Amino acid sequence: LADTVAATPPMGWNSWNFFAEKVTDADVRAAADALVSSGMRDAGYVYVNIDDGWQGERDAKGVIHPNARFPDMKALADYVHSKGLKLGIYTSPGPKTCAGFTGSLGHEAQDARSYADWGVDYLKYDLCSFIEDQMQAKAPHDPAQQMRLMTGAYERMHDALAATGRPIVYSLCQYGWDAVWEWAPGAKVGGNLWRTTGDITPEWDRIYAIASQQAGLASYAGPGHWNDPDMLEVGNGKLTPAENRAHFSWWAMLAAPLLAGNDLAHMSPEVKSILGNREVIAIDQDPLGKQATRAYAEGEVEVWTRPLQHGGMAIAVFNVGSERHAGTHPFRLNLAALGLHGTQQGKDLWSGKPVSLADQQTIALARHDVWLVRVDAPH
Ligand code: GLA
Repeated sequence: LADTVAATPPMGWNSWNFFAEKVTDADVRAAADALVSSGMRDAGYVYVNIDDGWQGERDAKGVIHPNARFPDMKALADYVHSKGLKLGIYTSPGPKTCAGFTGSLGHEAQDARSYADWGVDYLKYDLCSFIEDQMQAKAPHDPAQQMRLMTGAYERMHDALAATGRPIVYSLCQYGWDAVWEWAPGAKVGGNLWRTTGDITPEWDRIYAIASQQAGLASYAGPGHWNDPDMLEVGNGKLTPAENRAHFSWWAMLAAPLLAGNDLAHMSPEVKSILGNREVIAIDQDPLGKQATRAYAEGEVEVWTRPLQHGGMAIAVFNVGSERHAGTHPFRLNLAALGLHGTQQGKDLWSGKPVSLADQQTIALARHDVWLVRVDAPH
């Protein structure tokens, strides 16, 4: 809600991408333990977010209870807090959530109070059945009225969360519809982040499609309010090491929330080192909060830049090529197109080595790999 809860993009873990609706209390505790033992907590990953699948039924007074996989939400919150972490939860303004669990329609204030009583620090509010049940049912031929119903639903939960007096990060999930970045950060909705697209999957084509859709959205992001291109798939599916690096780099360039979506208790050393790269995390968490823009694209190579505090700049070069171009693809960096003049000194954030960037210098990049450089004093 208040800008102070998300001065930089939220970081943590979310259950959905790996555990989906079968998530259990034990899975969440294991994720919390792994955030600590892997060093991720100390690198900034503090939110442990339960997504869809925790809900049971309401009692006679309308109070929501978790299902049998979550025996005691307050005890779980206490456990997470005892590790120096924060707890997130998920619901929908409709009667049902996207996976068919109990939603919050008509119980918004009551649910917000339950979450605050448990010790919840973050809420993802996912539109789901509110579309058919309310917007289409109440205003079938009136998009403007549908819009008012949608924003009204998000305002209602904003007020309900604010009334609890607990600082709670407010995450809007409604798939980019209808230019959500324009109304979500306003005072009445008070969104700290909002999903800009449909769901991510652990596939390069989907990750690239989502990244491309962020190209025009930089001006909407800033301290307290962030575009959300969805949770990370690093370590999921069949993503290659290059794809995991490029995905993580891209999200850092985009000032995206960094919510790991893999099984933290069983990740490979390589995945751990990608998620734990503190210099890439520092790009994401740069206090200036300026999201990257696409500087230029040439063939199948895209160059994105992001201004950093104290006049610095992050430069990311992505080889987004298709199967046709297996192997490395040499690419000449056009510094003038980035507004830079002459040789620049920087650091390659994946090799950890200093680099000197000359204009028209050749960079060889494998398919779906990234070259990510931080330049502290660009000129
Ligand atoms: C939607 C959201 C996902 C996830 C699921 C849960 O699809 O976009 O991020 O929360 O619902 O059912």
